[in-house]
Amino acid sequence: MRRRIVSLVLMVVLAAIATVHAEGKMRIEKSDFGKTRDGQPVDLYTLTNDHGTVVTLTNWGASIVSIQVPDRSGKKADVLLGYDNAAGYIADTAYLGATVGRYGNRIGEGRFKLDGKEYKLAQNNGENHLHGGTAGFNKRLWEAKEIKPADGVAVQMHCLSKDGEEGYPGNLDVTVTFTLNNKNEVKIDYVATTDKPTVLNLTNHSYFNLLGDAAGDILGHEIMINADRFTPVDVGLIPTGELRPVAGTPLDFTQPKAIGARINDQYEQLVFGKGYDHNWVINQSGAAPRLAARLSEPKSGRVMEVLTTEPGLQFYSGNFLDGTIKGKKGKVYQHRYGLCLETQHFPDSPNKPDFPSTTLKPGGKYQTTTIYRFSTK
Ligand code: GLA
Repeated sequence: MRRRIVSLVLMVVLAAIATVHAEGKMRIEKSDFGKTRDGQPVDLYTLTNDHGTVVTLTNWGASIVSIQVPDRSGKKADVLLGYDNAAGYIADTAYLGATVGRYGNRIGEGRFKLDGKEYKLAQNNGENHLHGGTAGFNKRLWEAKEIKPADGVAVQMHCLSKDGEEGYPGNLDVTVTFTLNNKNEVKIDYVATTDKPTVLNLTNHSYFNLLGDAAGDILGHEIMINADRFTPVDVGLIPTGELRPVAGTPLDFTQPKAIGARINDQYEQLVFGKGYDHNWVINQSGAAPRLAARLSEPKSGRVMEVLTTEPGLQFYSGNFLDGTIKGKKGKVYQHRYGLCLETQHFPDSPNKPDFPSTTLKPGGKYQTTTIYRFSTK
C-alpha cells in the first residue's frame, strides 16, 4: 500500500515537472487552418515562449491571428481580434491581423507619378486607393517557413508580387518575419527588393483589445503617442501636406489619455475620421526602433508598447466596426471593439514630395522593423 502511494506521488511529481518543462520551452507548432478557395492548404503556426505567451500566425495574408498574454493577476487572454479559421480571413474586409501592402493606407485618387510616368491604381476607398487595392497582400497565400533566431521563435513569410500587380510597377520580393521572444515581444521585420522603381509602405493591421477576448470597447484604454505633430487630412482622409502640432487638439496624446475622453469632440479632424483615424509623426524616428506608443488598459493592467523604425503611426480606433463581423468563438465585434496601431510612412507619400519618401529602387533594400511589447502594471 505504502509503496503504491509512494509511486503514485512520484508519478504526479514527474507529470508536474514534465508540464512545467513543456510550458517553459520555446516552440513552434504547425497545424491545419483550412483551405483557400482553390483548395490550397492554409497553415496555422503556434509560437510559444518560455513564459507561456502564445502567438498564432497564418500564411493567409501573413496575418497575426492571436496574441495571448497575461493580465496583472496572471490570467491569460487573447488581445487580438480575428477569426477561428482561414475561411474567416479569406472573407474578411476589415484587414484583421493582416500584412497590408503594397501600400498601407491611402493614395489620393489612386494615382501617382514616378520618374515622369503615371501609374493608376484601384480606387477602392471612395475616389482613393486603400491598403494595396482590391487584392492586396492580405488576400494571398504566402510561403512560410519556421526559423530559429538566437532570441526567439520565428516564422518567415515570403511572397513575390508581379510587375503590374494592382497597378504597381516592378517585380517585388517581400519577406516578413514574425518573431516571438522571451521579452514578450512580437517583432515584425519587413524586407523587400524590386527590379523597377516602385512605391512601398508595408504595415500590419492587427486590432488590439487589451481587455482580452474582445470583452468590450476600447474607449477605456489609455494611450500615449510619442508625437508632437500629426498629418491632418481632408474629408477623404488624404493628408493636406501640413504637419500640425497636436498641442491643444484632441489628438494630443503626448501624455497618456483615455481614448474615449475626447473622441466625440466636434473637432473637424475627428469628424472626418469618424473618431481617430490619423497618422502621427513619431518624434525622433530613425534607424533603431523607437517608442511610438504605449497602450494600457486599467482593469486588466495589460500594457502594450509599440516600437518602430517607421516615421509614422496610424492610430485607428475601430470606427468602422459596426457589429457585422463575427470573429473568434462567435464573438461579435461591435463599434470600437478593437484599435489598430499601424506603423508606416505617411499616407499619400507618393504624391507628397515633402513627406519621407516611399520610393524603392532596384539595388535598394526596403527594411523596417516594428515591435509590439507586452507587459502589465
Ligand atoms: C485603416 C484606415 C481606416 C480603415 C481601416 C480598415 O486603418 O485608415 O480608415 O479603412 O484601415 O477598415
